[in-house]
Amino acid sequence: MNRELAYAVTFVILLLSSLLFFNFETPFDGFLSRIIPQNFHARPPLAGDCDFSRGRWVWNETYTSQSYDERCPFLDPGFRCRQNGRQDDGFQKWRWQPEGCDLPRFNASDFLERTRNGRVVFAGDSVGRNHWESLLCMLSMGISNLSNIHEVNGNPISKHKGYLAMRFKDYNMTVEYYRVPFLSVIGRPPPNSTSEVRMTIRVDELHWYTKKWEGADVLIFNSGHWWNLDKTIRS
Ligand SMILES: *[C@@H]1O[C@H](CO)[C@@H](O)[C@H](O)[C@H]1NC(C)=O
Ligand SMILES: *[C@@H]1O[C@H](CO)[C@@H](O)[C@H](O)[C@H]1NC(C)=O
Ligand SMILES: *[C@@H]1O[C@H](CO)[C@@H](O)[C@H](O)[C@H]1NC(C)=O
Ligand SMILES: *[C@@H]1O[C@H](CO)[C@@H](O)[C@H](O)[C@H]1NC(C)=O
Ligand SMILES: *[C@@H]1O[C@H](CO)[C@@H](O)[C@H](O)[C@H]1NC(C)=O
Repeated sequence: MNRELAYAVTFVILLLSSLLFFNFETPFDGFLSRIIPQNFHARPPLAGDCDFSRGRWVWNETYTSQSYDERCPFLDPGFRCRQNGRQDDGFQKWRWQPEGCDLPRFNASDFLERTRNGRVVFAGDSVGRNHWESLLCMLSMGISNLSNIHEVNGNPISKHKGYLAMRFKDYNMTVEYYRVPFLSVIGRPPPNSTSEVRMTIRVDELHWYTKKWEGADVLIFNSGHWWNLDKTIRS
């Protein structure tokens, strides 16, 4: 299988299994109850709770971005949309409005203070990497001397394989990214397979990076743009 096809197949399998999971929970109960709290689906909102995932995007023409721009040193060149020719900037004028409450505006120093001594870990593929770089840039607005943010192994932001861990020295805090598109181990083709088989996805074995996440305070998973028309058709 070529890589794009493998991604597409995995995506479909994940999609189908999550549909199965939500539709036919009961047969899996024995297994699921061990990994998911019993009340995972059904918990009614507590008083004062706000489900941030329910809401809508609100357009606000006068919304002033207090966020970073593309001079942020933690954006790798491929992710600098405007420098790469993106014309519109309307995407900056949308604000998320949850149903039952308001989101406070992002405040870098408040975020850094609350995350002191902590580890925030992004794992997966390029969409998560985009989010990771955005968060780094947003947080850097709260740091007066950018020399106090560094990659723990001295690697440049343009490195795309493996992992990068940015350390905020003043806060003893790291924001890390691990590139593991499948979370599991990618192996060699089975013996005697045809030349079209380029790899195997060993779904029974986690990638060794998962060991590095132990002790993380926040784990954020995401995929890449595997569903692009172009990539799907080429597969
Ligand atoms: C639009 O943004 C401005 C500035 O942040 C704010 O004062 C105003 O209340 C917002 N309007 C709406 C409809 O959200
Ligand atoms: C951001 O948070 C800090 C620390 O909690 C606070 O002192 C500051 O006033 C906040 N800034 C804004 C613009 O709300
Ligand atoms: C830094 O954070 C780690 C936890 O990630 C903690 O074990 C360590 O004591 C902290 N160091 C300082 C100087 O606070
Ligand atoms: C910024 O921090 C670096 C390293 O900690 C230090 O060498 C440099 O003098 C600092 N720059 C300013 C303007 O404080
Ligand atoms: C691979 O092919 C060789 C030669 O045809 C054969 O001896 C061997 O048993 C095959 N191995 C497997 C795992 O099918």
